Formats: sequence, C-alpha cells, structure tokens
Amino acid sequence: MSSKGRIPQVSQYGSVDPAPPLPNNRVSELTARLCDEESPMFQRMRAVFSLRNERSDDACLALCKGFTSTSALLRHEIAYVLGQMQNVVALPTLIERLADEEEHVMVRHEAAEAMGAIGDRSVLPTLKKFSRDPKPEVAESCIVALDLLAWVDGAEFEQTQW
Ligand SMILES: [Fe+2]
Repeated sequence: MSSKGRIPQVSQYGSVDPAPPLPNNRVSELTARLCDEESPMFQRMRAVFSLRNERSDDACLALCKGFTSTSALLRHEIAYVLGQMQNVVALPTLIERLADEEEHVMVRHEAAEAMGAIGDRSVLPTLKKFSRDPKPEVAESCIVALDLLAWVDGAEFEQTQW
C-alpha cells in the first residue's frame, strides 16, 4: 500500500464506485468518452459515474446511449447507475434491455433491478412477464423488483400482491 495513494471517495449516492468521476462534467464530452470503444474501460467508467452525478435528464439519456457499447460490463454498470439515478426517462431503454433475449444476463438482471429502484408502476406488466423468464437471474431480479415496488406500497410480506 502506498502512503501517497488516493482514497476513493463516497459518492453522493452513498456508494464507493469502481472509478471516480472525471473533472470535466460537460454532458457532450462525457457522452463521447462513454461511447468511444477505443477509450480505456476505466475512463469510460469514469464517464458513467460523472454522468450519473449530473442527475439531469440529458445525462440520463446520454447514459442510455452507452448501451450500444460492445462491453457487457459497461452496459451492466450503466443499468446499475440508472437505478441509482431513479429517473423515469431511462425506463423505455431499461425495458428494452430487459426484454432483449440476446442481451447479457448480467445486464438484463441489472435493468430489472433498476426498474424496481426507479419505482414507477408502469413497469409492472413488463416485470411480471419476465418474472417467468427461463434465465433464473432475470426471473429472480424481476421478482425482487416487484417485491420492492410492493414494499414501497406498504405490503408487509414478500411476493404478496403481484
Ligand atoms: Fe447486480
């Protein structure tokens, strides 16, 4: 361990992220970095967390553009931060990622959990549909998301009302 080392900071979301935000917070430049397939993964991740910290609709929609990335790891991280942002503008994209059977299971799992975290009831039919997905990671994530939505509504027991 280096005595000169930097210590990763706790984010405004209470998480210690795998990559710190970039000093530059212009959405256009962060989007370009995020979508640059030649850029190192660490820098693309830094763009992810910078956009998340911006919290705006534009930043959220910029993150949605990042799902074109060839990296399943990056797509999974994007889905995770969209859940942290809790912005409904991400829902159409998250629904699309969950519903895409060609998508990596880790990304579908994170998209389902993000939909639960966002907390909008419009996703109930989608989550119910994919709670029967043949891939257990997808099905279980949808059940957790449905239970979270039920819990937010004050349900006392798991898997009650849906
Ligand atoms: Fe996860």
